[in-house]
Amino acid sequence: SQYQIAVIVGSLRKESFNRQLAHALIKLAPAQVQFKEVAIGELPLYNQDADGHEVAVVKQFRDAIRSADAVLFVTPEYNRSMPGVLKNALDQGSRPYGHSVWDGKPAAVIGMSVGAIGTALAQQHLRNVLAYLNMPTLGQPEMFLQAKEGFFNADGSVGEQSRAFLQKFVELFAGWVAQHKR
Ligand code: FNR
Repeated sequence: SQYQIAVIVGSLRKESFNRQLAHALIKLAPAQVQFKEVAIGELPLYNQDADGHEVAVVKQFRDAIRSADAVLFVTPEYNRSMPGVLKNALDQGSRPYGHSVWDGKPAAVIGMSVGAIGTALAQQHLRNVLAYLNMPTLGQPEMFLQAKEGFFNADGSVGEQSRAFLQKFVELFAGWVAQHKR
C-alpha cells in the first residue's frame, strides 16, 4: 500500500533552501510513499481562546495532518532554534487538549542552513517537541546540510554525492513509516 506523507517546511521564504531541499528529496522517493507539502504560513498565531472553534485555515491544516500517515519536517535554524512559524504550526496541531493531530505519527527531521552546523540545534529543539507529541522520529541518519554554492543544480536536483545521501534517507524513512504507522 502507499503512504501519504505530509511535508512541513519551516521557512516562508520564496527561494527557501529548505523548500528546494524538500522538493529534491521528494523526487527521489520510492513508489510506496507520496509526499505533499502542507502550508503553515497562513495559520494565525495560536491562541488557546480559539480551542474548539478554530478558523477554517486551522481546521484545514489539522485535517491535512490528521489524514497523513507520517510527517517530514524540513527546517531552517533561526537563532539556534526552530522558526516561530514552525512552532506555531506544532502548537496549532496539538490542541484542543486530547485532540492532537500529531499523536503517534511517524516523523523525520531534516534541514539546511547557511551556517556550518547545518540546523543541528534547531533540529534538536524540534526533536524534543516531537518526543513530547508522541511522534516516533527517525534517529539516523541525521541530515544537517549547509547551503553552499552548487549544492542544487539549475533544475533543482542535487549533486551526485548528496543525491545518494538523500536517496538513502528517503528509503529509510519510507521503511520507518511502514514500521511505525498506526
Ligand atoms: C538565520 N540563519 C541562521 N543560520 C544558522 O545556521 N543558525 C542560526 O541560528 C540562524 N539564525 C537565523 C535567524 C534568522 C531570523 C534568519 C532570517 C536567518 C540563516 C539561515 O540559515 C538562512 O537564512 C537560511 O537561508 C534559512 O533557510 P531558508 O529560508 O533558505 O529555507
